[in-house]
Amino acid sequence: MTPNAPSGFFISFEGGDGAGKSTQIQVLAKTLRKAGREVVLTREPGGSPGAEAIRKLLLEGSADKWSPLTEALLMYASRADHLERTIIPALARGAVVITDRFADSSMAYQGLAGELGEDAVSTLYTLVVGAQAPDLTFILDLPVDEGLKRSGSTGDAEQRFESKGTAYQEKVRQAFLEIAKREPERCAVVSAEGEIMDVAARISAVIQTRYPTLLNR
Ligand code: TYD
Repeated sequence: MTPNAPSGFFISFEGGDGAGKSTQIQVLAKTLRKAGREVVLTREPGGSPGAEAIRKLLLEGSADKWSPLTEALLMYASRADHLERTIIPALARGAVVITDRFADSSMAYQGLAGELGEDAVSTLYTLVVGAQAPDLTFILDLPVDEGLKRSGSTGDAEQRFESKGTAYQEKVRQAFLEIAKREPERCAVVSAEGEIMDVAARISAVIQTRYPTLLNR
């Protein structure tokens, strides 16, 4: 990046199914826009036309539809397109990008909790993400039963991961906590229990402490 180019700020939200990420992202986006920021909201798998097409392949159908390797490659194929077409251009023009899931989901679901293992996922990470890691990652933490109760009621077709079972979801929860322990400067674990505005206040407090200029300029 050239010295005087605007540089944006990259935030990811992670957590188990039903942790309320999308609601919290909406609240945070509103706060940042009030502070005068351009905010780009996006999600994974998806976030660009090509990546949204891959999303459908990933989230619909039976739990064993893909082998662990193929599933991870599809996640990373969609992530490469998402980065190229949506995230990198937005950051280059100075926007705050907030994504609902990013690479930690692959490490948690496919790497640490899944059958593929972390080495294969790390290899894909290096190839696709490289230096383009999020500046800040919120890990919304919630007991698995509570999360499945919240997400199970939506009745949509995209239930492939929810259908993998409670033991898997428990491993996913522990995997996210492990990732946060490994990278405490990038990650903030926030309890997703309680009322929407209470969780939102916890998120704002993290930003106020770590990156106050994002909210006041
Ligand atoms: P989504 O409907 O977006 O669920 P949520 O509202 O919980 O975010 O579905 C995304 C599912 O895909 C979710 O169960 C996690 C899974 N996933 C992975 O397994 N690996 C990944 O790299 C990503 C981005 C998502």
